[in-house]
Amino acid sequence: MKNPVYLFLLLALGLVVTSYKWVTASNSSTQELTSMPSSTIEDIMTRTSVRSYTSQEVTSEQIDTLLRAAMAAPTAGNKQPWRFVVINDKSILDTIAANFPTMTMASKAPVAVIMCGDTTATFPGNGRDYWIQDVSAASENLLLAAHAIDLGAVWCGIYPQMERVEQFSQMLHLPAEIIPMACICIGHPSGQMTPKDKWHPEYVHYNTWGSGITE
Ligand SMILES: Cc1cc2nc3c(=O)[nH]c(=O)nc-3n(C[C@H](O)[C@H](O)[C@H](O)COP(=O)(O)O)c2cc1C
Repeated sequence: MKNPVYLFLLLALGLVVTSYKWVTASNSSTQELTSMPSSTIEDIMTRTSVRSYTSQEVTSEQIDTLLRAAMAAPTAGNKQPWRFVVINDKSILDTIAANFPTMTMASKAPVAVIMCGDTTATFPGNGRDYWIQDVSAASENLLLAAHAIDLGAVWCGIYPQMERVEQFSQMLHLPAEIIPMACICIGHPSGQMTPKDKWHPEYVHYNTWGSGITE
């Protein structure tokens, strides 16, 4: 092995073999990962609306986690027009439950978050209504985060039911540009919930609507 050319060839061969092993090893671990549900997929598939809670409090750290998750959602133009009103005052939670028949669980929830949009913080003109999608994305993030930390939550619709919007705006002293979109009630689930199976392959179309279902 005195000839430096042989030495160079040997080193090059070693490099090729090592690279091949590394590439095939990383490919197989990627396949394992993609064929296994990540905890994110697991959380998405097992989330369900929770409307009944124990008396255990939701800590300020947990509320912080939920709000951070909400604000991690995507928004049109990264405008982040969401605003949040955290309700942990029992008398306000009771008022919500008493005044809105679809939100009676609020009286048992230790906390609710009113998901709002600031209509001055989004696009002008036709793009204005993007705030609804932005606040909806934040709402779903919040629901998923609640589920991920073993809390239970339910999204209760406010906007576009304008009488609900008006009542919430008055009750919470919201400025005119702030529109309450949803009231998310949150607590520790009082029982085991079974997520609904909503998979409908017939709702899926590939490429064009009339072409039928093709995988
Ligand atoms: C826009 C919207 C409004 C909703 N409003 C209410 C409501 O006022 N009260 C309620 O109990 N649930 C409400 N829900 C929860 C739905 O009833 C629930 O998501 C649906 O039945 C599917 O069940 P799941 O969340 O367990 O998958 C609302 C959900 C959405 C997305």
